[in-house]
Amino acid sequence: MTDTSIEQRPASATDSAHIAGTKRFFSAENIHAYYGESYIVQGVSLEIDRGEVLALLGRNGAGKTSTLRAIAQIGSPELRQGEVWLDGQPLHTMKSHEAAIAGIGLVPEDRRIIPGLTVQENLELAQIAEPVGWPIEALYERFPRLAERRKQEAVTMSGGEQQMLAVARALARNVKLLLLDEPYEGLAPVIVQEIERIVREIKEAGITTIIVEQNAVAALKLADRAVILDSGEVVFDGTAEKVLNDEELLHQYLAI
Ligand SMILES: Nc1ncnc2c1ncn2[C@@H]1O[C@H](COP(=O)(O)OP(=O)(O)OP(=O)(O)O)[C@@H](O)[C@H]1O
Ligand SMILES: [Mg+2]
Repeated sequence: MTDTSIEQRPASATDSAHIAGTKRFFSAENIHAYYGESYIVQGVSLEIDRGEVLALLGRNGAGKTSTLRAIAQIGSPELRQGEVWLDGQPLHTMKSHEAAIAGIGLVPEDRRIIPGLTVQENLELAQIAEPVGWPIEALYERFPRLAERRKQEAVTMSGGEQQMLAVARALARNVKLLLLDEPYEGLAPVIVQEIERIVREIKEAGITTIIVEQNAVAALKLADRAVILDSGEVVFDGTAEKVLNDEELLHQYLAI
């Protein structure tokens, strides 16, 4: 017998939360992601309120970068299960450029500064498509080192300056969730302090942020909450303060 009834998907908990408007500003719900057959992100869930800073921590290879890439819908690793919502928008149904337009600003570890372009041109390129974020002059006020180097070819700048440009470029777009992957990596302490100041200013400006950092203590000092990953799974979700005061957690999962 042929079933002629109209197929109706039962409302999931997600749908009803969505309809009731109870969803958090950002949520990754039970996401599973693979590089080919390698199963790496194994059911990660994260929730963030608007304006919060979340530190995403864990040892080398725990799956932090992979989780950020799965959230940003880069395609590698491939998100095969789970949902990702940002301000009411279903990112899991989108391609990476659509997720970027929806407000995801991923600042990858390698910074991806475009060769052959000046600092100014890198920022202008970020604003080529709507919606745009902070005006370039406002960015130069926050990043005076970039203002001084606006005509310099961006790839000739120091690592720290390139990191500032990578963050500024994300802010030049209308970013709702900033994903910072190891913003302090390979930088001298004095430059780390400057990037820290910028991250603090971003927080004060109310931009919701996930910060991944090997320097867990530095990230925890800035963060409201922390999630610790181990082997692609969440092993802790709580306040940043709790992690800072828990020697066992610091030792077991963060090698401190
Ligand atoms: N392109 C890839 N293909 C296959 N496996 C990968 C790929 N990229 C990463 N992996 C594997 O996925 C796991 C998680 O890597 P990931 O880069 O997400 O970790 P991480 O927590 O960011 O580590 P780190 O602190 O060293 O940056 C590792 O075992 C890594 O070898
Ligand atoms: Mg990484």
